[in-house]
Amino acid sequence: MKERRAIESYDGLAKWYNTHYQEMNGTWVTPPEDCNRHLDDLDVPFDKTLRLLDIGCGGGHFLEQATKRVKCVGVEISRVALLYAHERLYGRGVILIEASLEGIEPWLQFDYIVSMGSLEHVLELDKALDKIRILLKPTGAFYFYLPNTSWVHKDQPNELLADEPWWRAKLKEHGLQVDTTKAWGVDNIAYKGSAC
Ligand SMILES: C[S@@+](CC[C@H](N)C(=O)[O-])C[C@H]1O[C@@H](n2cnc3c(N)ncnc32)[C@H](O)[C@@H]1O
Repeated sequence: MKERRAIESYDGLAKWYNTHYQEMNGTWVTPPEDCNRHLDDLDVPFDKTLRLLDIGCGGGHFLEQATKRVKCVGVEISRVALLYAHERLYGRGVILIEASLEGIEPWLQFDYIVSMGSLEHVLELDKALDKIRILLKPTGAFYFYLPNTSWVHKDQPNELLADEPWWRAKLKEHGLQVDTTKAWGVDNIAYKGSAC
């Protein structure tokens, strides 16, 4: 496991992402077809009685596809990212929350919890995983898209890089069981699982 930690406060991290998104003049983009491959891999049906939470939802590209299938909520610390997400998702019934995952009060449980390149950037991973366990329905499923130790980019201030055995053990410590994994290229792995 390799960890870089340049920012220690939530306020500092939110400011960093706000500035970064302003400099990018937008947010990172995952193409619709990739979002739908992830949703298919997670077996998300077209059923609006089900709820999905996207942690660190950025500009809302994943939510834009997910909301065609299920009810959606996004949580994100960057106000700038959320402004882009609001623009993209206006009128689609998606709830967007400006908060850190670690800091939100669990107010309901979800059928699906996803993190697309976000969990490795949170400030307090143990607290975040405990929160996910509480927010996930006993019958629910999680899907975490995470870089492994082959990841070479250093464009974000805080990042945790780990390989599959480390993530499997860490998730298990927090009552989260990995059921399947899928490699995306050489440097990303999608972990799908359930509460245990
Ligand atoms: C690499 S970006 C990925 C964004 C989006 N999921 C995507 O695929 O474009 C990581 C995001 O996580 C957000 N983030 C970092 N720590 C967070 C936390 N503790 N709670 C909620 N969001 C967080 C950042 O603001 C940033 O937008």
